[in-house]
Amino acid sequence: MYNTWLLITAITTVGCLWNSQQTETSKSCPTECICLSQTQVLCNTGGLEQIPLRQLPPTVENLALTKNNFPIIKPDSFAGLRALKKLSLDGNNITKIKQFAFRGLPRLKELSIQYTPLQTVTSFAFAGLQNLSTILLSHNQIARIEANAFAGTSNVKLILLSNNPLIKIDTSAFSSLTNVGHLILPSGIRTIESDAFFSMDSVGLLKLAYMDLKEVQPFTFRGLSNVLLLTLQESDLGVICIDAFTGLTQVETLQILNNKIDAIEELNFTYNANIKHLKVYGNHILETPEPSAIIIDGVDHLQLINNHFPCGCHIHTLLEGPLVEGAHNLSDFLEKNFCISPLEVNGRAMIELDIDAIGRCQDQLTKGNLGSSASSMAFSINMILLISVATIKLNTCLVLLYIIVKFFFNYGCEQKT
Ligand SMILES: *[C@@H]1O[C@H](CO)[C@@H](O)[C@H](O)[C@H]1NC(C)=O
Ligand SMILES: *[C@@H]1O[C@H](CO)[C@@H](O)[C@H](O)[C@H]1NC(C)=O
Ligand SMILES: *[C@@H]1O[C@H](CO)[C@@H](O)[C@H](O)[C@H]1NC(C)=O
Ligand SMILES: *[C@@H]1O[C@H](CO)[C@@H](O)[C@H](O)[C@H]1NC(C)=O
Repeated sequence: MYNTWLLITAITTVGCLWNSQQTETSKSCPTECICLSQTQVLCNTGGLEQIPLRQLPPTVENLALTKNNFPIIKPDSFAGLRALKKLSLDGNNITKIKQFAFRGLPRLKELSIQYTPLQTVTSFAFAGLQNLSTILLSHNQIARIEANAFAGTSNVKLILLSNNPLIKIDTSAFSSLTNVGHLILPSGIRTIESDAFFSMDSVGLLKLAYMDLKEVQPFTFRGLSNVLLLTLQESDLGVICIDAFTGLTQVETLQILNNKIDAIEELNFTYNANIKHLKVYGNHILETPEPSAIIIDGVDHLQLINNHFPCGCHIHTLLEGPLVEGAHNLSDFLEKNFCISPLEVNGRAMIELDIDAIGRCQDQLTKGNLGSSASSMAFSINMILLISVATIKLNTCLVLLYIIVKFFFNYGCEQKT
């Protein structure tokens, strides 16, 4: 009798233990994963076709799901993992992240989605991650970021988008991102829509480099405020349109560095723009801006160094204009800036020129009213004009040529409001 009881007790105990261990493991660690602890889970060996949401311990804080087969990240894919702080989805064949894919992760601080074929960051894909501070998106195939992609994700300190073929930034792509420390965009951007950075506030560094723009569109930076450093560098900026910087406010330093600029239709920084330092360094500016197009009252310190400007008859317009006046010291300006044209003075410091000997522009034909980025054409026409200034017949031809050129090469900015 005693023995039987003992046997029953033993069997029950073993059974219970075995059973509870069985349920414990199946509940708390998916078979494809290694659970280092109830807070750290690694599922990096591949083979997962679905996120094993039900089998993961709800206490997991650090979850790596790399190199699995998750082509689509559906809405609420991680719902319930309320303790999650760090999530890696690197190396998966993700092609789409649906709206609100990461909803319900109030403690998530770091999200990494790198080395995937993802092409588009869809609207609201990263919405509502209030506590996210780092989002790593490098080495994907991201060509486009749609509006409101990061809506409600307002505490991101770092967004890494390097090594993506990003060519277009949509209106409001980065809207509602406040307190971003660094936003570094990849090279090769061709279009930035108006209001691309709308309602971005308190940004440390916004760096736009190696772009290939046709134009800096009107209101590109509208709604962007409190920026420590905004830098546009090593890019073809095309034409800087009217209102390009309108609505950008409170910038410690705006840097325009080593770019090619076809024309400046307007550069208007009034007092409410409140730009502390405007540094214009090392740019090649192909056309002399109209004096009336430049307003820099709202800039505290302007530095114009190592830029190349046309030094034909328009040099007088430049030297008497607000840009050089804003730089305060004419001899300093002449010493530190260079000529881009005419050909015989290309690359020479302006100080080497005998400025008084350069005639003022008489012929308004090639000035201003020639379409914006046809300036290299304008330059060649200038050269031809010089050679054949007396030939009336040829001048008639040139007028015709000019009309044709203007017709085909007028890249002027579209007017928007
Ligand atoms: C990628 O996802 C598809 C499903 O769309 C799946 O069938 C395929 O095996 C995955 N490929 C790789 C290389 O993981
Ligand atoms: C967000 O992160 C901070 C620390 O960075 C933490 O104190 C806070 O509790 C977090 N919020 C939530 C909802 O967990
Ligand atoms: C410059 O901007 C201010 C305010 O944004 C505007 O009132 C003014 O008309 C602009 N000036 C020119 C010449 O566009
Ligand atoms: C202008 O710049 C030159 C060269 O940098 C300098 O020697 C000169 O003192 C400056 N003049 C004024 C008025 O600041």
